[in-house]
Amino acid sequence: MKKSSLFQKKSIELLISQSEEKGTSLKRILGPTNLIALGIGGIIGAGIFVLTGQAAAQYAGPAIVISFIISAIGCGFAGLAYAEFASMIPIAGSAYTYSYATIGEFLAWIIGWDLILEYLFGAATVSVGWSGYVSSFLSDIGLKIPTYLSQSPFAYEVGKGWFSTGAVINLPAVFIIAFVTALLVVGIKESTNFNNIIVIAKILVIILFIAFGFAYINSQNWVPFIPENKGEFGIFGWSGILRGAGVIFFAYIGFDAVSTAAQEAKNPKRDMPIGIMVSLIISTILYILVALVLTGIVKYDKLLVPDPMAVGVDAAGNGLFWLRPFIKIGAIAGLSSVILVLLLGQPRIFYSMAKDGLLPPIFSKVHPKFRTPYITTIVTGSVAAVVGGLFPIGALGEMVSIGTLLAFTIVSISVIVLRKTNPELHRPFKTPWVPFVPILGALISVVQIFSLPLPTWIRLIGWMLIGVIIYFSYGYKHSKIRNNSSGTA
Ligand code: ALA
Repeated sequence: MKKSSLFQKKSIELLISQSEEKGTSLKRILGPTNLIALGIGGIIGAGIFVLTGQAAAQYAGPAIVISFIISAIGCGFAGLAYAEFASMIPIAGSAYTYSYATIGEFLAWIIGWDLILEYLFGAATVSVGWSGYVSSFLSDIGLKIPTYLSQSPFAYEVGKGWFSTGAVINLPAVFIIAFVTALLVVGIKESTNFNNIIVIAKILVIILFIAFGFAYINSQNWVPFIPENKGEFGIFGWSGILRGAGVIFFAYIGFDAVSTAAQEAKNPKRDMPIGIMVSLIISTILYILVALVLTGIVKYDKLLVPDPMAVGVDAAGNGLFWLRPFIKIGAIAGLSSVILVLLLGQPRIFYSMAKDGLLPPIFSKVHPKFRTPYITTIVTGSVAAVVGGLFPIGALGEMVSIGTLLAFTIVSISVIVLRKTNPELHRPFKTPWVPFVPILGALISVVQIFSLPLPTWIRLIGWMLIGVIIYFSYGYKHSKIRNNSSGTA
């Protein structure tokens, strides 16, 4: 048994042959429409339904439209890098697997560990937003969930630190995670069918908002389009547009989750880039239009609310009143699909890590009948339910953003590395203008990482240290590739 370097790489040939393994593997049943729906399912959620108003009111004004464009460019560049990898290495592990092939095992583990922040914590974050919308919808129809059962027992404020809110548990958040987890165990087809339906519902609601809201735009609300800076970085003016872009970055997270379904795609070489890029383009167009209509109907300073689109509809007066319940239903559907896609992605990453020996074999167990990685799905759902049931949305959301931005940075850089180390590999989809596009993708991500607050950085470092300890206690000893050296040094 030969133990090799900590930075041992896994050869692409081995990765590809593993992706084609028959038998206990995942089911290849997803076509381009399902993959696009998965992307849109993962993208459109709390970002547009909750954060847009807050970012417009506090940082960018109507120019939040420009923030959306800037963030879309950064995500588009990272999306091209994901598209290149996902079509070349169609393995469920996403950024973890790509790093294994390019920068070696230890850093791949670090990225895999980091992705837990995006997927598992992302699902928990959105479940808290889901709980807010459901509680408000139920109260509109006369059913009130007591506050102590629908809020986080812990809260965090800058200067004050962590404190107890008096609530016991956020029960709706736990409920939606348990429901989605059960669905994901039963089958990928069942899950994606459910996702397709809720994606159609949320897109319809957004289109209704744009189409009917258009007539109520008062162009005076767009004046000034870029409100004057208030003398502090990030509060309106161009710096406010940049900070707004950092905040609404959360709205774009999720397109990369398409790549975790690569092992269940019928034709990943062709359909991975389609799923990733088309879902990103459709979401970007919808976001820009919503932001234009919203800031056109309501003066931006009135948008510091948890349900900005509902406030937009109210501002339009009686003419749009009928749309109000639909907005809430659309938001609930939207947030449900984000939770579904993120909880679908996480177990597939664990599955790949367990196949490589970095996690216990039980994590790669596929259900004999449902053909889903059911143990990891249940473990992921249970941890996400605890996190969503106990913690507040703000602190969680920032951890999700920093974790995702780190993954985008590494994937962008990895495209350049692999072009140098393995130029001969067949790339069904190629990122254009390498190295400029990936360098820009990485740079935009790094700038956004720096715009996040210090406590978020400290938590990220703490999280990574835990990951390093786990790696040396388990993965280092059990890694398949380092123990029988079938990768490339
Ligand atoms: N992009 C996802 C959302 O906005 C995470 O909810």
